[in-house]
Amino acid sequence: MGAGDLYYDPYDVEIDRDPYPVYRRLRDEAPLYRNERLDFWGLSRYDDVVAALKDLRRLTSTKGDILEVVQAAPDMPPGIFINEDPPLHTIHRALVSRMFTPRKIRALEEKVRAFCAACLDPLVGAGRFDFVLDLGAELPMRTIGMLFGIPDTEQPSLRSTAQRALRNEPGKPLPVTKEKYFGGGNYTEYVDWRAKNPSDDIITELLTLEFTDDSGKVRRLTRQEVQIFVGVIAGAGVETTSRLFGWMGKLLAEYPDQRGELVAEPALIPRAVEELLRVEPPGPHVARCVTEDLVLHGQTVPAGSALLLMLASANHDERVFPDPDRFDIHRDFSQLVTFGHGAHFCLGASLARLEGRIALEEVLRRFPTWEVDLAAARRAPTSTVRGWDSMPAVTG
Ligand code: HEM
Repeated sequence: MGAGDLYYDPYDVEIDRDPYPVYRRLRDEAPLYRNERLDFWGLSRYDDVVAALKDLRRLTSTKGDILEVVQAAPDMPPGIFINEDPPLHTIHRALVSRMFTPRKIRALEEKVRAFCAACLDPLVGAGRFDFVLDLGAELPMRTIGMLFGIPDTEQPSLRSTAQRALRNEPGKPLPVTKEKYFGGGNYTEYVDWRAKNPSDDIITELLTLEFTDDSGKVRRLTRQEVQIFVGVIAGAGVETTSRLFGWMGKLLAEYPDQRGELVAEPALIPRAVEELLRVEPPGPHVARCVTEDLVLHGQTVPAGSALLLMLASANHDERVFPDPDRFDIHRDFSQLVTFGHGAHFCLGASLARLEGRIALEEVLRRFPTWEVDLAAARRAPTSTVRGWDSMPAVTG
């Protein structure tokens, strides 16, 4: 239980500025945390978070994987596989994972690099650029838009749809209603359009593949199912990856010696991306609903409770990562939980890593040093994806 003055509120703007001291106290003083006011339980230690992510029987994803969704318990439309449990989740995930194979992701490298160059070249010599507005707001949206085969002019609306679902007012939970959270996307138009104009893209592939469904019938996905799959991928892949870029600008400015090492030895860049993802994971937590009374740290978490799994705290657990708050590209970060763990492990992890690596290579090639203008930087008002709407940099 949280004792004394220990209080954690995932929507609190002040805590969110630097949640790591609170996370540390939670790990030490209240490894099972109860917030009565907001009515959730929370786990903050690495081992507990990983064990919970593996426990598919007693912790279900079917009520949502965002705290506000689990609490609101909306009537979930079928096919949102991030919010399904096995065996249905296994069937649906398999359909999508064949579109995210290492070979398919590697094949994007050239296009992603060309896109970064197009964003950054006009800014060389300008003396300033914004890690989020000039790069983070654009690259993940363009990459997923390209995978879906969505025309360039339509791609900004892909991002705004994904953004709308995840934006809360500062300090407040996300308003969750079925209409607001699951409705209103324009994915139907893309899917209908692609059905008439098939091409070499994920939407076409989803529309045409055949699979054995949970009743043993071989069939194709309906257009509505494809639309939901597209919504899941866009919802999970655009805002999260966008957030990586603000942290990239900020952290590398705070650690200029390590940035210098990356300029001298670009082969270290994948390590830097991994350490960025560990230190400031764009998705700081996921949630589950408890299906049966659960005894954790000597206390009973009743069936039906919402349980918050604090991934960002797990990534900073000193039991696993020595001197955890320090950014260190030479550390062993192999156990980070930024992309979750087990059955729901992020399908786009290698895509996010590819985007991060190429973007950082292209940034450092053009701008080997920079200072960030924190007074002008803007935080994004979201609790589920943590980071910046703007991170301006003054380039040397
Ligand atoms: C799942 C984080 C980028 C697609 C997840 C989960 C996390 C996560 C923590 C697990 C959710 C849970 O257990 O409930 C991130 C972060 C990203 C990122 C931090 C960027 C830095 C992407 C990208 C895509 C993507 C680029 C797609 C193009 C998905 C999908 C799932 C998922 C489809 C659901 C997998 C399943 O339920 O089986 N992601 N993600 N993500 N992610 Fe990502």
